[in-house]
Amino acid sequence: MALKITVIGTGYLGATHAAAMAELGFEVLGLDVVPEKIEMLTRGEVPMYEPGLEELLRKHVAGIEGSTGRLRFTMDWAEVAEFGDVHFVCVNTPQKHGEYACDMSYVDAAVESLAKHLGKPALVVGKSTVPVGSAERLAARILELAPAGGEVELAWNPEFLREGFAVQDTLHPDRIVVGVRSDRAEKTLREVYATPVGQGSPFVVTDFPTAELVKTAANSFLATKISFINAMAEVCEAAGGDVAKLAEAIGYDERIGPKFLRAGIGFGGGCLPKDIRAFMARAGELGADQALTFLREIDSINMRRRGQMVEMTREALGGGSFLGKRVAVLGATFKPDSDDVRDSPALNVAGQIHLQGGQVTVYDPKGMDNARRLFPTLGYAESAEAAVRGADVVLHLTEWREFRELDPAALGELAGTRLILDGRNALDPVLWRKAGWTYRAMGRPAA
Ligand code: UGA
Repeated sequence: MALKITVIGTGYLGATHAAAMAELGFEVLGLDVVPEKIEMLTRGEVPMYEPGLEELLRKHVAGIEGSTGRLRFTMDWAEVAEFGDVHFVCVNTPQKHGEYACDMSYVDAAVESLAKHLGKPALVVGKSTVPVGSAERLAARILELAPAGGEVELAWNPEFLREGFAVQDTLHPDRIVVGVRSDRAEKTLREVYATPVGQGSPFVVTDFPTAELVKTAANSFLATKISFINAMAEVCEAAGGDVAKLAEAIGYDERIGPKFLRAGIGFGGGCLPKDIRAFMARAGELGADQALTFLREIDSINMRRRGQMVEMTREALGGGSFLGKRVAVLGATFKPDSDDVRDSPALNVAGQIHLQGGQVTVYDPKGMDNARRLFPTLGYAESAEAAVRGADVVLHLTEWREFRELDPAALGELAGTRLILDGRNALDPVLWRKAGWTYRAMGRPAA
């Protein structure tokens, strides 16, 4: 009989995973503790912007015309426990307030609520990003709490999806990593992932700590790559070099590769920043803090970028105060194709300039509502054109396609001064200069 699957937590990770499991042919029951989310999902609506996810959801959510009906949602733990053979835990693990460590309270609560109801054999699969050692602790907790005792097992299966590509990354993962303690658990997960494995996704079997570490190591490596190129950008600024050319040239070396070498205002979002911090905190607890002191430098290079963007703006405006200056900010989200503004470098820069007296007007294609909620005192405009009208300087801070497709000549008619600073190294300098703009990017003083 085909496995029945539940997904606990319906954020970016869980909602996408639930829809993807239904797409792979499984019967799926999703659970969340937030009633509004469950109501939306049941109507086939996605609580955040993620390309392709709503279509996939509507294809499978029961009760929607023409759907397969394989996907349902509930708030009832007993129903979930009764329904599932495999339970994926997809709740978030934010940074603890005032600390580097990660807040495990949502994972702990989810596992406890579920375990208490598990009266039949099941595999609980953790997908959340957790400090190494959590799986071992949670496995013991499940054994203590589950009425079915040893018939319930835990596995760890980290997730590598990127926001903006969540559907594609979940249906066609570049690797599947499973931390297991038994052949039975491995066999069950091979069954769950038979389709992507059949299509060529590598399936890597490990122990618990390795599976947990793969995730934090991968995000640390990505953060390191970005901060490396941003450090080179600082040197290029000082030496008169061009970091975009430098990245292109080193990227041809296959050992280095061209990806994740775009210099700019740095990384943000709900994952990279908090994951490297939680990793340092955990290594400290384990007595291995020296091994990760370099991550402190990665973090500080990254955070410095935001201040450098502010200073570059000040300089471009002639130095001195921002008082009375009109600053148009294009982009609020931490990356394009997402409405996520968590730890967004763009909003951070906008906020700093605003706090120093600048009149900041922000426009973002999808992130306006979230940005307004987080920074209600910033000015907002309904279009790039409206944001740019009368501006003394335009800051390009999130590289949406919409901004690359702007017509610099038409925009020039609206701007107070034709001055654009590219915080993402993503616009074409030639195009903007041809339309009479002064174009300046980070790490490319002469480009
Ligand atoms: C990241 C990882 O890429 C995923 O593999 C991982 O699954 C996910 O975290 C997670 O842990 O859940 P995501 O947060 O969606 O995914 O964003 P990324 O695409 O990694 O971008 C992170 C930040 O780095 C963005 O602010 C982006 O603008 C910045 N970035 C990226 C650069 O500044 N330069 C680059 O060259 C690439």
